[in-house]
Amino acid sequence: MDAAVLDWANLLLRWVHVIVGIAWIGSSFFFIWLDLSLNKREGLPDGVAGETWMVHGGGFYHAQKYLVAPEQLPEHLHWFKWESYATWISGFCLMAVIYYFGAESFLIDRQTLDVGPAAAIAISLAMLAVSWVVYDLICRSPLGNSTGPLAVAVFVLVVGAAFLFSNVFSGRAAFVHVGAMIGTIMSANVFFIIIPNQKKTVAAMLAGKAPDAVWGMQAKQRSTHNNYLTLPVLLMMISNHYPMTFGHEYNWLIVAVVLIIGGVVRDWFNTRNAGGGGSRTAWQWPLATVLTVGLAVFVSVPWNVETLDEEKMVDADGAFAIVQTHCVSCHATEPINPDFDAPPGGVVFESVDHLRTHAVRILAQTVTSQAMPLGNTSEMTELERQQIGAWIRAGQPD
Ligand code: HEC
Repeated sequence: MDAAVLDWANLLLRWVHVIVGIAWIGSSFFFIWLDLSLNKREGLPDGVAGETWMVHGGGFYHAQKYLVAPEQLPEHLHWFKWESYATWISGFCLMAVIYYFGAESFLIDRQTLDVGPAAAIAISLAMLAVSWVVYDLICRSPLGNSTGPLAVAVFVLVVGAAFLFSNVFSGRAAFVHVGAMIGTIMSANVFFIIIPNQKKTVAAMLAGKAPDAVWGMQAKQRSTHNNYLTLPVLLMMISNHYPMTFGHEYNWLIVAVVLIIGGVVRDWFNTRNAGGGGSRTAWQWPLATVLTVGLAVFVSVPWNVETLDEEKMVDADGAFAIVQTHCVSCHATEPINPDFDAPPGGVVFESVDHLRTHAVRILAQTVTSQAMPLGNTSEMTELERQQIGAWIRAGQPD
């Protein structure tokens, strides 16, 4: 498809995706807060588990939570579901525009797995579907009855998937797939479990029957999972701007640490919202800080720097020649790669001075990570990466 059309589709879908994502996660944060801040008092109506008072935008709000449903259902009942569905739909379309229409550049890395676009797209779709099925089976298995083991199982599932993705797709696509997988699980929780169970509850009430308490418990479990996954999923989605994460040799390990950091920080908020404090909220921020600093140190230790023999070193002409071979099909004022109608990221490599200007970014994209050349269709070798790296570190001599 025409590059300009795809660019516009990309921009507009991204815009929508961010907006509805904010609405979804915002309402999710709000309801978790609301749930945890409910107070009991004498004289609440029958079936009301608690209430809370809020002030916002000049008005006072008084919310009461019915554990099952009020005896008489109100005429107007707002269901919170489109925030979630719209986030998934716009996210899926955005992923298709970038990673399916641009499969050669963005999805596939032939050094990782030598497949064509159709096969890579089929693998991507299958993996998203399978990850939901496996997650759902885990939750329904006996493991689903014990919170700790279930959390470990879901953690292992996501990290295992990250490992698999990083051995199938480009690093960047692998990270987006981890995000897409978590987002799919979260949205499917809403679509297949949370909303249907609420509907069953309402239907039972209308029929004058007592709703099954299991429906509520199941919905609560899935919505708690969604809550703990919100912070990690956002990092995965924005990670594609940071090659030090997805481009790292052990990128799946980075996913594991991010899951822990996000979960721990969420736990602090949840506990505070519920009125907890003291030793119960003393450990989350210190642990998250240690892990974040540890992660930053871990990714900045150069993991693939080799000392090159003197005769393998390149001069400015040599470095420029490597870039001509592997980069300028895209990074030129008029790219010959049909997927681009302007130099991506505004970066062009048409003279040695351009290389000097972007030296630090070239190191990050091509040497300490393998984010560039995108898709590596020109099959840049490890030696060439080391040569560029050595030339840049030596101060880009003539
Ligand atoms: C197939 C096309 C393609 C090729 C080939 C390619 N790039 Fe890129 N490059 C891109 C795209 C697309 C972006 C923008 C990425 C984004 O939006 O995150 C980019 C962005 C960059 C950036 C800017 C990143 C930033 O910090 O914003 C640098 C630097 C870069 N590439 C270096 C290189 C080098 C060096 C090579 C060759 C070794 C190369 N690229 C080969 C497509 C390509």
